[in-house]
Amino acid sequence: MTRPRQHVAAMAPYALADLGGPDSRPAPSLAQNESFRPPCPGAFEAVAATMADAALYPDPDWTELRSMIASHHGIDPNGILCGSGSLELIGCLARAFSGPHRAVLAPEHAYPYFRSAAQASEARFDTAPESDCTVSADGLLEAVRPDTGCVFLANPGNPTGTRIPAGEIRRLRNNLREDILLVIDEAYGEFADHLDVPVFNMTATGNTVILRTFSKAYGLAGCRVGWGTFPSRIAVEVRKVLNPNNVSSVSQAAARAALQDIAYMRETCVQTAERRDRAARKLATLGIRCLASCTNFLLLDLETRDLARSAEARLRSEGAVLRTQGAAGLPNCLRMTIGPARELDNAICLLETWIREISP
Ligand SMILES: Cc1ncc(COP(=O)(O)O)c(C=O)c1O
Repeated sequence: MTRPRQHVAAMAPYALADLGGPDSRPAPSLAQNESFRPPCPGAFEAVAATMADAALYPDPDWTELRSMIASHHGIDPNGILCGSGSLELIGCLARAFSGPHRAVLAPEHAYPYFRSAAQASEARFDTAPESDCTVSADGLLEAVRPDTGCVFLANPGNPTGTRIPAGEIRRLRNNLREDILLVIDEAYGEFADHLDVPVFNMTATGNTVILRTFSKAYGLAGCRVGWGTFPSRIAVEVRKVLNPNNVSSVSQAAARAALQDIAYMRETCVQTAERRDRAARKLATLGIRCLASCTNFLLLDLETRDLARSAEARLRSEGAVLRTQGAAGLPNCLRMTIGPARELDNAICLLETWIREISP
């Protein structure tokens, strides 16, 4: 019988959110941190126009897209690689830079895909303690072992929603061994750009990569476009394990159109923050504590695993899907995306009803 490699057989598949509602109907989801807004209007026109050339393969080098990303962020287009979502870039970085003798280190409540990417590369996955659900540079530095090959962290974090200042990221880099690759995943970076200085120029260290995506603030999760800025030596290696022609021509067109309407993206970020903070205040009046979030989601602390499960099941029974966070070491918590107003209000109302039902 054909057998998979041992480390693959031992892996659990990466668990995406279970979107099933009552009677297995798909429910409107607040479980995947998608934007509550459709893509910008220009993206619709751009995609329609690109269909004329859909018989041809896309630009394998993402030339125009890279040039637009570079001019928007003031970085070098030559250091950019694009992925089929930032997931592809995370997987390829792990494949190229971690393995049986090069462990991956991440914060305790890290984005769970980092673990999957490490496991798929046959690398040990180590975690470092956080401080109040916030990445701790000192925690990571103390957890480094002789065979640590990569440090992956998301800033802001998912599922915590918290962030650490650029100065702390630089301190982390300055105190990590030079042979350790530091990957900073900024999937939610646009929601926090107004809070700090960018860290893109850290690629100059030669061993730091910064990733972003069009899936969140730009509302293009379905198009699967991620990108990263890489030191050239690292980009060359990652490129070898990326799928050729990985970003479709329609997706590249949608992403380019999104970059032509930065005002729309910024409006999305502002509206998201307003809705998020309003939701957090409302939840506080119900006695539910949320971590201060810099993203398009809130992490609700339900205090016990049983209460988190009970709330999740109650909401799901009415078609509202939030995500449990056991996979990120936070079994007492539920993550709620700042989704469309109707779904968000409905979820909060259902939480209010659930609290009444379980109150003695
Ligand atoms: C921290 C983080 N990184 C990466 C991703 C993957 O994003 P993409 O859609 O670009 O693959 C997500 C998606 O939720 C995320 O939360």
